[in-house]
Amino acid sequence: MFHRMCLVLTVLVCLFAEAPAISPGAQDSVWLGSLDLTHLRQGWGTPRVDSSVDGKPLRLGGVTYHRGVGTHARAVLRIALHESALRFRALAGVNDSSNGAGSVRVRLLGDGRVLFASGVLRTGRGGVAIDADLTGIDTLILTATDAGDGIDHDHVDLCDARIVYSGTPPGTFTQAPEQPSILTPAPGPLPRINGARVIGCRPGHPFLHRIPCTGERPMTFTARTLPAGLTLDPSTGIIRGTAPAAGTHRVTVTAKNARGSASVELRIVSGATLALTPPMGWNHWYAHYNRVTDALMREAADVMHRTGMADAGYQYVSIDDCWMNAPRHSDPLRVGPLRDPGGNILPNKHFPDMRGLTEHIHALGLKAGIYTSPGRLTCAGFAGTLGHEEQDAKQFAAWGFDFLKYDWCSYSEVTGGNPDRAALRKPYEVMGNVLAGLDRDMVLNLCQYGMGNVWEWGAAVGGQCWRTAGDLGFELDRIYEVALQNADHRAWSGPGSWNDPDYIQIGYVGNAMTGGEPQPTPVPPQMQYAYMSLWSLMASPLFFSGDMNRLDPFTLNILCNPEVIEVDQDPLGQSAAVIPLDDETFVMVKEMEDGSKAVGFFNRDEIDRDLTAPWSALGLQGRHAIRDLWRQQDIGTSAGPLTYRVPSRGVMFVRLRPLH
Ligand code: GAL
Repeated sequence: MFHRMCLVLTVLVCLFAEAPAISPGAQDSVWLGSLDLTHLRQGWGTPRVDSSVDGKPLRLGGVTYHRGVGTHARAVLRIALHESALRFRALAGVNDSSNGAGSVRVRLLGDGRVLFASGVLRTGRGGVAIDADLTGIDTLILTATDAGDGIDHDHVDLCDARIVYSGTPPGTFTQAPEQPSILTPAPGPLPRINGARVIGCRPGHPFLHRIPCTGERPMTFTARTLPAGLTLDPSTGIIRGTAPAAGTHRVTVTAKNARGSASVELRIVSGATLALTPPMGWNHWYAHYNRVTDALMREAADVMHRTGMADAGYQYVSIDDCWMNAPRHSDPLRVGPLRDPGGNILPNKHFPDMRGLTEHIHALGLKAGIYTSPGRLTCAGFAGTLGHEEQDAKQFAAWGFDFLKYDWCSYSEVTGGNPDRAALRKPYEVMGNVLAGLDRDMVLNLCQYGMGNVWEWGAAVGGQCWRTAGDLGFELDRIYEVALQNADHRAWSGPGSWNDPDYIQIGYVGNAMTGGEPQPTPVPPQMQYAYMSLWSLMASPLFFSGDMNRLDPFTLNILCNPEVIEVDQDPLGQSAAVIPLDDETFVMVKEMEDGSKAVGFFNRDEIDRDLTAPWSALGLQGRHAIRDLWRQQDIGTSAGPLTYRVPSRGVMFVRLRPLH
């Protein structure tokens, strides 16, 4: 009897101690703020307990809350529930102090399912109550993403946030790093000719093209109807000479080895337009920044040749900033007179022989890129070209360069604040005219971060490609956003006219601001597949900017898949159309010259998702053969719709060929 009374009392005490309990039983609840929030990843600042991300009171719709967590958009928190949790409760919103501008979406994902989705939450509008059933869930993911307008002002308050559980208490954790998995088979022994099929050049100028080709070496190259003035080296596949008279010259090139042969038609289009397909290459910036040397550039060219990158189509070996002298620099070998008495630009002591450097690159059949700024100084404080535009361009041509990146940097000193479009165009017009008058082809890459809608006039001023945004290297967590903004400019994509969302920064990449040794890219493996797919679908210039001396098999598998590169290099030059599926997923469709379509299914979500694209949305009719481009496998036929399970942050990339 006494025991029974004790039991009843204990239960009563428990029940009262538990108030406000949800349902009878040994329940407990834990405030979100008392969990270990070092596992909370967010796009700005660090999480705060009982205040907003910037230290203000938690305040939604005029009401102040004393408990909760202040975080910031692109927030992800993983919580192990051990199937012991019952409910997640909170009031979620954008803090009242967010300048009237913040907007976010808050979601709860439980074991791969959406348990709660807030829709768009805006500042000043109060919060939305979350009361989600967690029964039987093992892993909970709490996300707060921007609502399509960037993360600025997205101060997310999770007021009175708590988890009710019974049994093992919940605990936050960080997801184990995703393991890279190589999807693409190694190149086979048979010859396969890759890369650009259409090559732009200007009549009478020096011509150089190495036929990119995988397969067992030795290999013998032949060409039918090669225009006069050009010769093909049968063992290297390098075509050299003088660009033919204006017109389209169709050349059939064949590569043959002990296993077999492959032939393709190359179109050499001699005329005014260069870069008829997006330029491909390597740029030193995110590998060596202000430590770049002649030796590192030569080595990069050798690696491009040796590793198969050149066989996949990579061609330009490009120096970025810091090859000139600077008025001041921590490295004395980079300090010296900016110009000689004749006004000629002087390379610094790490570049003793510019002509020798381009000869080294050209001997491999590759091309050389150089960098300067229209301003007095470059972004890193080295000599710019202001007042010496023609002299410098002629010097670059005399040295043998084939590509010029022209980076705005200090040119604002000339324009002052808020330059109009004419002022923005001017320096590029000047350089475009100078390059058009040279006796050497030099591709012009405009780098001014998209100011004045450069995509609308970049080609008119003589450019072949233009950066559409700032430096992606400092925002590698924003690859998807940067890509989607770049894709908005698809109308301006076409032969000789390319939107450039910046480099491919995978493998080992460095922080150009802080220096130090390059580190493994922060881009997770599945997202690297997405990165390369996005760039190819958008017909973007493909410049790798990581450490060439630390290329691993996974990085090479991302960079060198010829079927993916074929999408980028398609002669139509179309940038894919974006078809949103929902807030976190979308499809990109690109029409190819041969009537096929390249289609990427993209999943930005934290969980794997099944994505379905209706046939009509893809603009398709009838049955199509489907090829998985990353795995290089035929995966059947379909008359629509298509559904694929796409990994978190990753892609399924297919090419559809009509069967009728
Ligand atoms: C930035 C440019 C980068 C890199 C850097 C060199 O303006 O966007 O790609 O060239 O300058 O200082």
